[in-house]
Amino acid sequence: MSPFLLTRTLPEDATEAALRADVLQGLTHNPKTLPPKWFYDAHGSELFEQITELPEYYPTRAEREILVARNDEIAAATRARTLVELGSGSSEKTRHLIDALADLHTYVPVDVSESALTQAGQALAAERPGLEVHALIADFTARLTLPQTPGPRLLAFLGGTIGNLLPVERAAFLASLRALLSPGDALLLGTDLVKDESVLVRAYDDAAGVTAAFNKNVLSVVNRELGSDFDLDAFDHVALWDAEHEWIEMRLRSRTAQTVKIPALDLAVDFAAGEEMRTEVSAKFRKEGVRAELSAAGLELAHWWTDGEGRFALSLSVAR
Ligand SMILES: C[S@@+](CC[C@H](N)C(=O)[O-])C[C@H]1O[C@@H](n2cnc3c(N)ncnc32)[C@H](O)[C@@H]1O
Repeated sequence: MSPFLLTRTLPEDATEAALRADVLQGLTHNPKTLPPKWFYDAHGSELFEQITELPEYYPTRAEREILVARNDEIAAATRARTLVELGSGSSEKTRHLIDALADLHTYVPVDVSESALTQAGQALAAERPGLEVHALIADFTARLTLPQTPGPRLLAFLGGTIGNLLPVERAAFLASLRALLSPGDALLLGTDLVKDESVLVRAYDDAAGVTAAFNKNVLSVVNRELGSDFDLDAFDHVALWDAEHEWIEMRLRSRTAQTVKIPALDLAVDFAAGEEMRTEVSAKFRKEGVRAELSAAGLELAHWWTDGEGRFALSLSVAR
């Protein structure tokens, strides 16, 4: 079994302080919002894994198809000795990359979900003798301090998770990734592509209701951590396509006029009947837009691969 290290880069109470700040800001704002990172407690991470297996949720299968087809090319282009993966979750698809990187010394999964990190990290350390696994519990939008490990370094950000950041956040985030890259390092980025609206909406509003449960899980997290009394049955899951911004928006719609109490914030929040609160955006991309965003952050697109149906793209870029 290889070494498995788990490092928390934030003090434990920082998570609660960040949740309090996000909930206070998001629920006193008009329209109300909650940031998507709070979906992912242990139950939320488990629900996300179920989503990846749904017939309607094509991104995971499409990205896996690209990784399987292109892992040797990625390995040859990067010769990475350290693989850092942001928002790694179960690290399931990453195994295809790890297997292809012949000189890989250390895998650094980074996630806010301690349960997902521990499960995936321990399994990988057990399965891959010789591979060091150094997991980081961290918010990838905050300043990241990576462990000292051998280069070249490949930063991977898969799953289309970059689409959960708003454009202005994406620009700052990509610039922060650029700052982590030394000469010879590279960024592997997964982006879901613009496509037919009905396909997109179905991917975020599945027939079995798993995405609805995932969406409502954020209310359970706030109830548990801040003592609030959100009634999950009093909200409906909504997924819609915003054609202007080219993103899917997930919302929770209040079924009735209601007041929710949040004792930890000494706050009472009124919802009107039918009022919608935004819980996630998931931006969809086009090649030229990705190239332009990378370029604005000082990165140059070197490779662009899509699955056979052109649903999803993986790009490899390097520092300019
Ligand atoms: C859409 S899932 C993708 C998981 C996996 N990369 C995949 O492709 O299947 C997003 C992942 O990012 C993590 N995450 C979300 N926001 C985060 C943040 N601000 N910092 C660190 N991890 C975050 C979640 O816990 C979750 O594991």
